Amino acid sequence: MGSGDQGINIAPELDDISPRSLRRRGLRYGVLGRVLDYHASVGSTNNQARLLAGGGYPEGTVVLAEEQTSGRGRQGRAWHSPRGEGVFLSVILRPPVDAMEVARLTLVTGVAVVEAAQETTGIRLGLKWPNDLLYHGAKVGGILTENTGGGAVIVGIGINTSQAEFPPELAGKATSLYLASGRRVDRAALVVAVLQHLEALYAAFLGGALAGILDDWRRYSVTLGQRVRAVVNDEVVEGLAVDIDDHGALLLEIEEEGAVRTQRLWAGEITMLRPA
Ligand code: BTN
Repeated sequence: MGSGDQGINIAPELDDISPRSLRRRGLRYGVLGRVLDYHASVGSTNNQARLLAGGGYPEGTVVLAEEQTSGRGRQGRAWHSPRGEGVFLSVILRPPVDAMEVARLTLVTGVAVVEAAQETTGIRLGLKWPNDLLYHGAKVGGILTENTGGGAVIVGIGINTSQAEFPPELAGKATSLYLASGRRVDRAALVVAVLQHLEALYAAFLGGALAGILDDWRRYSVTLGQRVRAVVNDEVVEGLAVDIDDHGALLLEIEEEGAVRTQRLWAGEITMLRPA
């Protein structure tokens, strides 16, 4: 267990996301933020959250780290997580069984992050289905939602906040809020905003207000209205992304032999054929 609210302070820095900094920026003891598990360095906050969830930690427990040494992205990719240059956090949720679908929770979280980033930095990010946060086509963040199988869902959020440059393999593909805005990002304020927006939207989602949240997702989307390529059952398909459904699936219109059919994508990855 890292440094919680009552724990030992791990070398707080000027710009840290320690519990003390978050409380100073106004983090309440609501559902998200009631229990904070803070690490100077951790393998992956999602892995740590999974461990805590297995140990019975309550809904709303948040794992935060200044650095991840084995940060994970979707499809087994690594998530670049340099110390103090990003937000790396995971939230334990325990939704009722019928709300366990991770796809919908990923979209709800995307809306929360867009709104938090806009509020804190003035930057409007775009949502690329299912889990990417983009700025002018370059990746600023991503969401990794995982079902533990034991009654919990882990929502992992990674945001590039402060990087001035990226390793060669990410150059041109990734950017940060600092590069986008030209201003230093107050990471603690951003974390507080993310948790507050997510808490409100998650409550709305559980209260039956998913439709309104999905409308916000559509407004922030950079995918809808674009031609995309996807792999479905080992086959490459191309089509127009026309909408998402109530489950968070993407609806593609595909033209085949003069006819148009609708293909539903439940998960996976798409390539946008025109830049976002
Ligand atoms: C993606 O776009 O592929 C998802 C990236 C998710 C990264 C975050 S950082 C915090 C949490 N811990 C992890 O190991 N991954 C997620």
